[in-house]
Amino acid sequence: MEIIVVKDYEEMAKKGAEILYHEIKGNPKITLGLATGGTQIGVYNHLSKLHEDRPLDLTALSTFNLDEYIGIAPESENSYHFYMNKYFFQPMSISQEQAYLPNGLAEDIEEECKRYEKLIAHHGGIDIQVLGVGSNGHIGFNEPRTSFHCRTHEVNLTDSTIKANARFFDAEDEVPKKAISMGIETIMEAKKIILFASGRNKAKAINQLLRSDEITVEWPVTILKTHPNVTIVVDEAAYNSDFNEQILNLGKYNIFIS
Ligand code: F6R
Repeated sequence: MEIIVVKDYEEMAKKGAEILYHEIKGNPKITLGLATGGTQIGVYNHLSKLHEDRPLDLTALSTFNLDEYIGIAPESENSYHFYMNKYFFQPMSISQEQAYLPNGLAEDIEEECKRYEKLIAHHGGIDIQVLGVGSNGHIGFNEPRTSFHCRTHEVNLTDSTIKANARFFDAEDEVPKKAISMGIETIMEAKKIILFASGRNKAKAINQLLRSDEITVEWPVTILKTHPNVTIVVDEAAYNSDFNEQILNLGKYNIFIS
């Protein structure tokens, strides 16, 4: 595991964009697994700027998103389709044919999950999976106590996730209660994972990942300890928190502090 500690959100976003830029440049046929949320907006903004200055060949790239709310139309401003168009697909000139998200309006959600898994497999799996983390340790929308063995599935969002995501909606009761999410097994099959985290509200989840030996469904993010190729870009607020006395125990990881 490689841990890159940066000063703040802005530095996390820049560093993340640089990493993604070089990964795409090195493999124009890359299949990216992408996340939404506040954490990634800065990363995608900086990546678009890099692409504007030094254009990448994106014609052979494919993307798969981690998740989408159930019951929200792709055109709705609150859908992850809308978010991706705004922050990634339009600025990067990625066509609809290259970009996959679960269909939250599918009549048969179970079938839709199977279809999504098949599409990922058909593309040879995910090369790089971008992740954020919930303050409760969720990855994708795999909430605490989700089996590590699940694949793309329907999930019930926890109250804490609904509260956290309410900032993107007009009112908390507008936040959908269900979503489709890649499963933890699907995420763990990615060849490489890059996790981004910023802010004190992520410190507890990052602490569980870095400073506890436990791998537990109570903190889904802890499964990343078993993946062979993980990079974490984390800002000081998410990294240090009140737990920095234990930094010495992190000798097993490569830590870069910039
Ligand atoms: C979003 C996703 C979620 C978010 C997480 C953090 O596609 O899968 O796991 O990454 O909820 O969200 P933010 O970045 O808004 O704090």
